[in-house]
Amino acid sequence: MRAALSFGLAVAAFAAALPAHGEGIDVARQSYLANLLTQDCGSCHGLTMKGGLGPALLPAALAERDDAVLVETILDGRPGTPMPPWRFELSQQEAAWLVARLREGVR
Ligand code: HEC
Repeated sequence: MRAALSFGLAVAAFAAALPAHGEGIDVARQSYLANLLTQDCGSCHGLTMKGGLGPALLPAALAERDDAVLVETILDGRPGTPMPPWRFELSQQEAAWLVARLREGVR
């Protein structure tokens, strides 16, 4: 019983250490980023990314945009608009992860 329990814990710890689909971003950081996306980004882009002060970031709205442009927009902001730079907070890889989440659709 005890052996089964510690085996279960070892499996859980191993699974938690695996990046789900965020190459190299650990699960804790992914959950932080997901929260940032709805809370911080959502304060302008809408909790469900349908738009607000900032434009909608739904998959259809981004379909024509290049990943590179979107990552750059997140890292450097858009000068002259309310879109702030996030370089102080996010790595390039994390910005790319956010773009991938937006393309999947944030629910
Ligand atoms: C203070 C308000 C504000 C916050 C906070 C904000 N944005 Fe923006 N964002 C904007 C505005 C306004 C634009 C449109 C800029 C323009 O006119 O080109 C924009 C544009 C964008 C674009 C480009 C959309 C396109 O169609 O080209 C992306 C991607 C984006 N934001 C992602 C994010 C992400 C991810 C976050 C959180 C890390 C975030 N934004 C936080 C206001 C905000």
